Amino acid sequence: MIPESFKLDLLNRVDIVEVVGRYVQLRRGGANHLGLCPFHNEKSPSFTVSPAKQFYHCFGCGAHGNAIGFLMSYSGLGYVDAIKDLAASVGMQVPELQPRSPEEARRKERETDLYAVMERALEFYRAELKKSPRAIDYLKRRGLTGEIAARFRMGYAPDDWQGLRGAFPAYEDKALVECGLVVEGDEGKRYDRFRDRIVFPILNARGAVIGFGGRVLEASADGGSPKYLNSPETPLFEKGREVYGLTQARDGIRAANRVLVVEGYMDVVALAQFGVGYAVATLGTATTPVHVAKMLRLADELVFCFDGDAAGRKAAWRALETSLPLAADAKPIRFLFLPEGDDPDSFVRAHGKEAFERRVAEAQTLSDYLLGEWRAESDLGTAEGRSRFLTRAKPALQKIAAPMLKLQLVKAVADLARVSQAEAEHLLDVAPAPASARQAPPRAPRSAVSLEWRLLVRAFAKPSLLAQLDPALLAHDNEETQALAELAGLVREVAEPDALDDREIAERIRLARHAETLARAQAHLRMELRLETDAAAAEFQELVEALRKRESEEDQRLRQKVLKGLASPEERAQFLQRAGLASRNPTGGAGV
Ligand code: UTP
Ligand code: MN
Repeated sequence: MIPESFKLDLLNRVDIVEVVGRYVQLRRGGANHLGLCPFHNEKSPSFTVSPAKQFYHCFGCGAHGNAIGFLMSYSGLGYVDAIKDLAASVGMQVPELQPRSPEEARRKERETDLYAVMERALEFYRAELKKSPRAIDYLKRRGLTGEIAARFRMGYAPDDWQGLRGAFPAYEDKALVECGLVVEGDEGKRYDRFRDRIVFPILNARGAVIGFGGRVLEASADGGSPKYLNSPETPLFEKGREVYGLTQARDGIRAANRVLVVEGYMDVVALAQFGVGYAVATLGTATTPVHVAKMLRLADELVFCFDGDAAGRKAAWRALETSLPLAADAKPIRFLFLPEGDDPDSFVRAHGKEAFERRVAEAQTLSDYLLGEWRAESDLGTAEGRSRFLTRAKPALQKIAAPMLKLQLVKAVADLARVSQAEAEHLLDVAPAPASARQAPPRAPRSAVSLEWRLLVRAFAKPSLLAQLDPALLAHDNEETQALAELAGLVREVAEPDALDDREIAERIRLARHAETLARAQAHLRMELRLETDAAAAEFQELVEALRKRESEEDQRLRQKVLKGLASPEERAQFLQRAGLASRNPTGGAGV
């Protein structure tokens, strides 16, 4: 049996709009999302999904339920498999499927309680803010109204090593450490992570508190403590998936049909105070593919806003690279650079809402930004410069999946480089896909957890393992397979793949075609499985064995079909191809 607490956590972690959106094309209509019901045949949409209630309902056929129910009905999965599937998609591990230490099992059971702990801590911080004239004065000096501070549920962590005792008499409770509220120092000494800081609660899609950001009131003269301190990654909080301010921005995003991604907590709050209600912030991390995908689902337009300084430019370029594979033809992504020395907070306070929104409206498109950067680096007046321009453009263009955007860019590049479109397509290796492949097939519902996914997750423990993987075994054309093959390719480029640390690996996969899946697998290993390298390597070998077994079963099925003359031409070709591969590797050995 799957514990009820796990089910609740899972529903807390997933967003039904995203789950349904994998299979049904949804568009926003009022507070809900709307689409053609997948459960009955209809021409005009009566199928609605509510982000606030996390439910779907069809006014045509009456089908309704939560994310788990949707998966069960849509893909015919059983309850347990639907939960497994859903859990895998957010990098959670179903407790029953993984033998755990008793301590870990207890931790999982308690995860629901962690939400309650976070909520109680927040209420404590909010009460402390009311009691601290110094903290109130700080917020006033920053121009915040009481109303906006309340709307963002801001608080104050008192200047006290164990201030949270005020809310948690059982200060020794391990849950406080698990939540990242209390730090366990050497010799088991415990103290509050946030002290003498303004705290900004970070909420998940359902509005539950999953983390905090804390700002010092005065910059320390010795530079001893960082200006902002964030919750560490905890069972509730994964930085790369969350953004700050989404709960408060939902209505604003819907009304404007636009999401603005800024850099800072204060920027979100100040913009909201001045009536720009559609801003969210990443949490002191670079923009991840998960962020981009999530934002693109919320509105038809995504605008990144960065400071005009060198650091902002650099962050913008990284956000652009992350966005390339995710950009969609009908959803423009744009980049706004504020004047040097300004951030959204200072800009909107100095110039007001209209001036700020004018800047937003004039923000540079992704294509203009790309072309501009490439041009700035190459002298288009010379043959060498034009070649350099093409060379620079190539990797980025290859990453763009949106066919129309890609075509437009190829044409623009061809023009500037003074080559024909056909020449550009050839040089840039972006020949248009054949008609059959052009339309990406709808993602098939993934039943249970695939072997490829499990291999992929474990590969992050010891990337050199991938060299042992025979690509012929990966005949299944799903997202995980492609991600696995891509990761193997990336690893091949590195002399000592096992010497890479997690950050370096993350850096490399960030620009991959399957960046989102790869990042999810990496996070899954680190956050959920937490396997030792040796254990992961052993499991990897077992999975390779399983792949081989699966392959031979399928070979047999195919052979039977071919022999009986029941195989389609494709199946026959597949069979011959496999036979060819098999004869190259007659022992069925481990491959390279
Ligand atoms: P900024 O340094 O631009 O600060 O950091 P800010 O948002 O303008 O804040 P104020 O106006 O000085 O109060 C932008 C974001 O980077 C992260 C935080 O998420 C912050 O909001 N950051 C910054 C950290 O995580 N740690 C730091 O020490 C500094
Ligand atoms: Mn600022």
